[in-house]
Amino acid sequence: MSGRVAVVRGLGGALPEKVVTNEYLSSIMDTSDEWIRRRTGIGERRHSDDSENTSVLATTAAVRALESAGIELGSASSTAVGLLIVATSTPDKVCPATAPKVAANLGLNGIAAFDVSAVCSGFVYALATASWAIGSGAVDSALVIGADTFTRLLDPTDRSTAVIFGDGAGAAYLTAGTRDEPGAILASTLHSDGDGEALIQVPHQGAFFEMQGKEVFTQAVSAMSDSVETVLANVGWAASDVDSLVAHQANLRILNTVASVTGIPESKAEVHLDRVGNTSAASIPLAMTDAGTKGHRSAGDKVILTAFGGGTTWGAVAMTWPEISVVDPH
Ligand code: COA
Repeated sequence: MSGRVAVVRGLGGALPEKVVTNEYLSSIMDTSDEWIRRRTGIGERRHSDDSENTSVLATTAAVRALESAGIELGSASSTAVGLLIVATSTPDKVCPATAPKVAANLGLNGIAAFDVSAVCSGFVYALATASWAIGSGAVDSALVIGADTFTRLLDPTDRSTAVIFGDGAGAAYLTAGTRDEPGAILASTLHSDGDGEALIQVPHQGAFFEMQGKEVFTQAVSAMSDSVETVLANVGWAASDVDSLVAHQANLRILNTVASVTGIPESKAEVHLDRVGNTSAASIPLAMTDAGTKGHRSAGDKVILTAFGGGTTWGAVAMTWPEISVVDPH
């Protein structure tokens, strides 16, 4: 096996200004703070306005990830990024992709830039793809951004989705390094099953987002648990070795069940959804950014990322915690 791997050198997040509380949602639809907290663990979420579309949030998160790696925008950044991937299912436009726009916003015109559409699994898909590109030697560095503004696609009267989703973006900056460096991406596994496409979908242009919540819950637990076990086996870690489980922030009950099925203590599961809800492709990098700003992670900690999303798609990544400082996006 080649000794060259991708290593995370920076993390950054971005959130819209507007906070939407459970109390507010209870005033416009038949729900309650008590129900939302008990069934999902969510306390509030952010809604983007017209000035905070996906590329804007993605650009801010990317700038913060570069700064977290000690790179200021400008001449240094133009040679520091070889590839830019935006994981999003809510691009600014139906076409073209959002990634070239984000690259241009960052002064990175000319680099390879493309979107990955895997809904809530998007960041794990994009991170694994970037790690393959760096590991192969095709590029030396990458920005991987998860950014979504799903609240624009929600039926504002549908209490089964409106209480869950929020908007945001998170980004990781990676360069080539070795497996023993803090931040190294050590293993990944990605999967899909298009027979489940109707579980999470926007069926056509102009339609609202639809989700079959109960079935998604069951499949998410089993798919994420299987993926976690696959990457644990690949890197030779026991569940008890894991310092941090960063599972897609869909529902607190899903996070806790994945922990219990895989044998990882619940206390190791990062919880960020209480403040931002389900931010789709942004949820994992935002949860990592949050863990970094809380200061309860140390360089070299053993970290498992896992997600399940529309497609259906799912996967996991095993990595170590990078040696970085992170800015709080809240
Ligand atoms: N407030 C109050 N009551 C609500 C409600 C809300 N926001 N949403 C649903 N309910 C009601 C339902 O109408 C139902 O009432 P009934 O029993 O009278 O029919 C009851 O609560 C139970 O609904 P159900 O859909 O079975 O709730 P649930 O416990 O499965 O929770 C989700 C619903 C959506 C929170 C849950 O299924 C979930 O989190 N699924 C996974 C979602 C997810 O992870 N999505 C992203 C994956 S990428």
